[in-house]
Amino acid sequence: MSARLPPELTVGFEEIDRQHRRLIDLMDAAAAAARAGDLAGARGAVAALGDELVTHFSSEEGFMAETLYPDRGRHKAAHDLFLQDFAQLGGELEAGLSDLAVHWLTVRVPEWVKFHIGVNDVPLGQYLTARHFRPEQPRSPAAKPRPS
Ligand SMILES: [Fe+2]
Repeated sequence: MSARLPPELTVGFEEIDRQHRRLIDLMDAAAAAARAGDLAGARGAVAALGDELVTHFSSEEGFMAETLYPDRGRHKAAHDLFLQDFAQLGGELEAGLSDLAVHWLTVRVPEWVKFHIGVNDVPLGQYLTARHFRPEQPRSPAAKPRPS
């Protein structure tokens, strides 16, 4: 896992920064597999990245809802649009490691994530930090109680 994030990608709210480090590691792995022409590796990395994105977005959306973050509607809309795009990438990869799929994995996805962190997540991190917000528990599917 990356030891630290560059300053422009540091939100300053530890739970979000921790999730971003994991996302960036998965994104790097997907890009490396794409560059190496490793279709199975790229598919595996994209599946892991997709799971992590869903968990991460729902975590941020939970924080925004709990704190009544004023920009939460627009922020969630950005997440939803990106997940639609990301689903198209999954479809593209089913056909193989096309030039388009490689471009998405090496350029489009990393650019979107970095842009989104800078434009949407940094202000959210500042808002949460200013309110001394503390997440009650990690928001991952594994943390949910199991039905008996
Ligand atoms: Fe976000």
